[in-house]
Amino acid sequence: MATYLSGIQPSGLLHIGNYFGAIRQHISLQEKSGDHFYFIADYHALTTVKDAKALRELVRESAVTYLALGLDPSKAVLWQQSAVAEVQEIAWLLSTVTGMGLLERSHSYKDKMARGVKSNVGLFTYPVLMAADILAFDSNVVPVGKDQVQHIEMTQDMAGYFNNTFGEVFVRPECLLAEAGAAQKVPGLDGQKMSKSYDNTVWIFEEGKKLKKRFGKIVTDSRPPEEPKNPEEIFLFDLMALFLSASEVQDWQDKVREGGEGAPGYGNLKAAIGEAMEEYFSAARARRLEFLDDPAEVDRILQKGAEQARERAAKVRDRAFSACGLR
Ligand code: ADP
Ligand code: TRP
Repeated sequence: MATYLSGIQPSGLLHIGNYFGAIRQHISLQEKSGDHFYFIADYHALTTVKDAKALRELVRESAVTYLALGLDPSKAVLWQQSAVAEVQEIAWLLSTVTGMGLLERSHSYKDKMARGVKSNVGLFTYPVLMAADILAFDSNVVPVGKDQVQHIEMTQDMAGYFNNTFGEVFVRPECLLAEAGAAQKVPGLDGQKMSKSYDNTVWIFEEGKKLKKRFGKIVTDSRPPEEPKNPEEIFLFDLMALFLSASEVQDWQDKVREGGEGAPGYGNLKAAIGEAMEEYFSAARARRLEFLDDPAEVDRILQKGAEQARERAAKVRDRAFSACGLR
């Protein structure tokens, strides 16, 4: 039977790239038969967030985001990573069989260093903890975005090293990529990949004036509306495709391609996308407010999730401890 598991870092407000690239898929998978595990990766976020109050709020906001968008705690287990200590115990075991070279090849670590992020050991050993996140639950399907594939491959390697050394303990996981197309790489306001680390994001629940202001920052050029343009060169259409139907997008693209009197300008495109986005998330936005109004309910869900997660991870930890000669 399949065990689905994924995590999301509460290192900033979750954005529409996170939604279309990851969260939406996590939530729709809960309808499939199998076990479903989703967690808020607060240990991972601590490699970059150094403010207790901010982290606490982001953890809660991330949990509420999942619940508001439709994660159903009766179908999927939702918890906060740091509530399950067994994961750290397993991370240590993995670190003792993992060569430095494997971690040194990590793209995400190298990218961060190239961008001038200050290094810390946690950032370097991030893939070991991520492997433990996955292996601690015997999960075999890990739905993630493309940028996480290397981490899953490293997890497979670490599971292999451990099993070769101590016998079959860990289940080899496979990744499940989000559907192809626009959703895999949602562009940010600057046209680069939308990412919390680039300050180019649009928060899922942004609305009204603030949303307008945010969309105002989308980078365009100074060509006038009447000048005919090639829609393929305009990344606004990638954003539009997330919220409007294919035929509606086609209509807008035809008008832009033709140009001339009355052709839409970039401002019109932004307004259409903003409006559609507000509508798209309107039911979830209302549910978010309900959850924010009832923190005890959110606590209850996370606590119950942590208990269920701990129960599962303890079994795997015991198996691993016994295989390698610990108590
Ligand atoms: P960020 O880059 O904003 O820090 P994360 O690295 O925490 O995002 O990614 C969380 C999940 O969201 C991952 O599965 C990732 O693949 C997905 N994701 C992040 N940004 C995008 C994007 N711009 N387009 C599609 N998916 C994305
Ligand atoms: N590294 C993932 C990200 O940045 C988050 C994550 C942590 C994760 N542990 C995981 C995803 C385990 C899947 C499985 O998006």
